[in-house]
Amino acid sequence: MAAGGGRLVMRTLPAPGWVRGSDPAVLSRLRDAAVVKPGFLSAAEEETLSRELEPELRRRRYEYDHWDAAIHGFRETEKTLWSQASRAILERVRAAAFPPSQALLPAVHVLDLERRGFIKPHVDSVKFCGDTIAGLSLLSAGVMRLRHVQQPGQWLELLLEPGSLYVLRGPARYDFSHEILPDGESFFGERRVPRGRRISVICRSQP
Ligand code: OGA
Ligand code: MN
Repeated sequence: MAAGGGRLVMRTLPAPGWVRGSDPAVLSRLRDAAVVKPGFLSAAEEETLSRELEPELRRRRYEYDHWDAAIHGFRETEKTLWSQASRAILERVRAAAFPPSQALLPAVHVLDLERRGFIKPHVDSVKFCGDTIAGLSLLSAGVMRLRHVQQPGQWLELLLEPGSLYVLRGPARYDFSHEILPDGESFFGERRVPRGRRISVICRSQP
């Protein structure tokens, strides 16, 4: 088929229901670089992770109001020791998000955002994180916005429901900033996505 035919198909195919973008070109360019897998976790797996994380998180206080900080209303931990059931889940994440040859950071980043918590636009430091970021969302939905660092008119919105997995790699990880919208701005297009407390479990490749 002629190239024009392919382009026509791309323009008329709706994007999957959990990714929106500023334009068809950015959607198609990031199709494999910014991926959401809704329902990646079963209800039992979500429960396994949140039960295991809750006591560790509860010991910490939510942090606020560093004016220059990227994250507001959060507590976090870097976790290396996991139950066998959780290790099996993390292994599924590894297989789904990372090529077999890619080494991961040994600690998994667990971030607990309270209902009013949010993450401002940032690019993960290349000193501490390699090509790929994979995150599970627990408890509450949220909207992640990606915005091209040089061309802010180019953006994507990812709808992250509880139990979903997102993956940012390559251009989505390096050329776009990402953020988690505060409750007052938490919309996926026209659709309001009320924010509650959200826990993310984030695996990253080594730099
Ligand atoms: C981060 C980050 C996203 C998330 O901690 O750098 O972007 O899903 N987190 O919590
Ligand atoms: Mn980040």
